[in-house]
Amino acid sequence: MSILRIEGGRALDGALTIHGAKNSVLPIMAAAIVANGESVIHNCPALSDVEVSIKILKHLGCRVKREGTSVWIDSSTMDRCDIPDGLMREMRSSVVFMGAILARAGEAELSMPGGCELGPRPIDLHLYALRTLGTHIKEHGGKILCAAEKLQGNKIHFPIPSVGATENAMLAACACEGTTLIINAAREPEICDLQDYLNKTGVDICGAGTAIIRVEGRPKEKGIEHRIIPDRIVAASYIAALGAAGGKIALRGVEPCHIDTVVNVMREMGCTIDLHGKELLVARQGDLSAVRPVCTGPYPDFPTDAQPPVMAASLLAKGTTVFVENIFENRYRHVPELLRMGADVRIKDRVAVVCGVQRLHGAAVESTDLRGGAALIIAALAAEGTSDITGLSHVDRGYEHIETALSKLGADARRI
Ligand code: UD1
Repeated sequence: MSILRIEGGRALDGALTIHGAKNSVLPIMAAAIVANGESVIHNCPALSDVEVSIKILKHLGCRVKREGTSVWIDSSTMDRCDIPDGLMREMRSSVVFMGAILARAGEAELSMPGGCELGPRPIDLHLYALRTLGTHIKEHGGKILCAAEKLQGNKIHFPIPSVGATENAMLAACACEGTTLIINAAREPEICDLQDYLNKTGVDICGAGTAIIRVEGRPKEKGIEHRIIPDRIVAASYIAALGAAGGKIALRGVEPCHIDTVVNVMREMGCTIDLHGKELLVARQGDLSAVRPVCTGPYPDFPTDAQPPVMAASLLAKGTTVFVENIFENRYRHVPELLRMGADVRIKDRVAVVCGVQRLHGAAVESTDLRGGAALIIAALAAEGTSDITGLSHVDRGYEHIETALSKLGADARRI
């Protein structure tokens, strides 16, 4: 078992390039199946979830090679349409292979996906979207069996915007006859990235970034190259880390418009954030102060994934900050661990109330999910003394070489 040991209380100082977005690369790797040929995907982060996607693609019969930050996929050799339960359980994103395999093979056999335990994470909207396009779906013995003689374009009207269900709908729509309209689609930047990739395959997709996406036509282009957008949640996490620890850092390769809401909150808390094209200069000298309630919501609202890191920064802010988690029921699992470090946080249902304390102290803590793990690391950077953080497999799903990145920013962080 590895431990991340952090000697806290050091101001940060350094520069870091933000890696490619986990939530973009995973659906785009699945989309490479739909493309039925070669794709080269650049700016792929070195994350365990990317490795799982590579394993899934290889299991399906695709040829995959990784060279540095580029992944080459040849999906023309795909000869299976099932994903074993073990691989499905390794990450939530395995579910987007459902729409992709179905589009390519007309059938798919999967089981329920895994991923962070944030409360119930149903897939009813995914199944609704695929059924609306003409898929017969049977759930039997833990398996989900999908089959479609012919996929037919249709109107998919989601009751709430779901990132994964929108992606599955887009992927399955690539094999439909006629036009598909996805209404109340998720508007996250990762949806736009998937649209950009699919457009390169020759499918005609528009509307990503708005509530209505239109999909028409089928993939026909071969030899696609695509560069993944920067990871906005990773950028947000390092901004929060600077807020907690103080100092001055430069974050390079950022898409500032993707993290407006987080930048605004961290500025209000007391950070100075200057934008220079794709570089953010983040600094904090004085104390942090509490901010207006932080309410998570679908993009462009405040991202639920940035709630735990920003909460960690607020622990030392003067006054009381309220968080309202509107996306996932159980997204405060990091809070009991933060209390071990001297934080003052109370939770009632979806609301967390943080009363700023004067100091945090190092402690042995365990991360139980990806962004909760980031919150513990951020609190440890600001705490006096040593913290030992376990449960790093969660953190490695979304933050590339976290100890190296933190060291580049001047933190005393070691994996032991
Ligand atoms: C994606 C992100 C995750 C982020 C989340 C919300 C990936 C790999 N993960 O997750 O990091 O936290 O968006 O921004 O991109 N829901 C249903 N039925 C469904 C699907 C979803 O009720 O079939 C609900 C969920 O329980 C949740 C809400 O819809 O309350 C939004 O979830 P969704 O956008 O689907 O999240 P994911 O795609 O799983």
